[in-house]
Amino acid sequence: MRKRLIVSAASALSMFLAVPASAADFQPGAAGVGDPYYPTYGNGGYRVSHYDIRLKYQPATDELEGTTTILATATQDLSRFNLDFALNVSEVRVNGRPATFATSGEQELEVTPARPLAKGSQATVVVRYKGVPSTVKKYGFTAWLRTPDGAVAAGEPESAWWWFPSNDHPSDKATFDVSVQVPDGNQVISNGILTGTTSQAGWTRYSWRENKPQATYLATLAVGKFDISTDTTANGLPVYNAYSKGLGDNADAARASVERTGELVDWLSGYFGDYPFSSVGGYVPNVPTGFALETQTRVFYSPRQFAKGANTSVVVHELAHQWYGDSVSLSRWSDIWLNEGFARYAQFLWSEHENEGTAQELADYVYASHPADDAFWTVKPGDPGADNQFATAVYDRGAVAIQALRNAVGDEKFFRILKGWPTERRYGNATIPEFQAYAEKVSGQKLGDLFNTWLFTAAKPAVGPVAPGAA
Ligand code: ARG
Ligand code: ZN
Repeated sequence: MRKRLIVSAASALSMFLAVPASAADFQPGAAGVGDPYYPTYGNGGYRVSHYDIRLKYQPATDELEGTTTILATATQDLSRFNLDFALNVSEVRVNGRPATFATSGEQELEVTPARPLAKGSQATVVVRYKGVPSTVKKYGFTAWLRTPDGAVAAGEPESAWWWFPSNDHPSDKATFDVSVQVPDGNQVISNGILTGTTSQAGWTRYSWRENKPQATYLATLAVGKFDISTDTTANGLPVYNAYSKGLGDNADAARASVERTGELVDWLSGYFGDYPFSSVGGYVPNVPTGFALETQTRVFYSPRQFAKGANTSVVVHELAHQWYGDSVSLSRWSDIWLNEGFARYAQFLWSEHENEGTAQELADYVYASHPADDAFWTVKPGDPGADNQFATAVYDRGAVAIQALRNAVGDEKFFRILKGWPTERRYGNATIPEFQAYAEKVSGQKLGDLFNTWLFTAAKPAVGPVAPGAA
């Protein structure tokens, strides 16, 4: 407390006397970026432009070690800053000089550079580390999944902590190089383009590059034995898919779905505009979990998605996120509807295309199948709470909200909004109020009541998503 007083007195004095900033003006960056749901996620005081992740992984023991080099820019005069990370750190350097570091909270790594960082200055941060990620629990869990032949890093909102230190929040996106050495005979899957492989002394290094801004939770890493399938779409987009050799009975259904990635990207481009990235594909590791995740350019699918046969709908969902979620990312986790509502709505459009029910029919069904006293309606898709971020209502009621918007503004304007938004906000971040303002601008209509009714009210709307002329 005392210290703080002295510091502010010093900065007031330096302002008054116009003396150059002294070290006393430098403050620690905040331990969180200010997310309403996850106050400690991300960090204050700097932004990251690039991660260079260089690792070695031994599947037999789950030992992961290496370095991550972070290119950052200070956004305030910084005496100290945090990274989010879970493994054991042995060394940190900032601009070449050894830095002191300490851990705090669940996933905070506090770094004190030898020389403080002036606002606007660049910092090169090198973190050397080692760990057995599957054994490291934060908030009681690990997002690092071991498989019979390797491992996978995939999770939302958390997954980075178990394999690279970061400013872990989607509001700070960066490009990525991921280069991982594994014993010969294993493959490494990550985002973007495989720029090369080299082998020496029984180890093979795979180097991947994602050259468009990527949120930290959308970075993924998989090690294992995969069947690889590569292609190029009619538009020249490279496709890289990978299927664990251990998929057994699910292998054919997985391939019958994921091999349609190129076709489905082209189909979605008709609704959302040009595909925003330089490569696309998916991977199906041999994990027992049941979710899929829109990891940028290289979607994670669990085999369970294909347990009942082909599932093109999940592929459509995850590819829709490449526009809604990956290219246009959340500024705060409470706006998860901007991701999940639109990805589910893309599935409605696919159903319509496949003659399996129109978007209107599916929206009517969601509305009718949940009675007013169903807990389903107590979740507000526009602000569901951290515990309900991935509740069915965010997806289903969220998609019905989009059908209600379509009915309110008419097809011509609706489809202009659906394509215009990811085009205008490409590679950026956004909030629900910003989306509403955009939809109001394109449609020339006030949409406050519609958004309140469908996204921000914990009750079943009195009237369903009525099609024009159907009432
Ligand atoms: N965004 C993912 C999807 O496409 C949801 C992932 C939920 N996360 C989890 N660990 N279950 O639906
Ligand atoms: Zn989703």
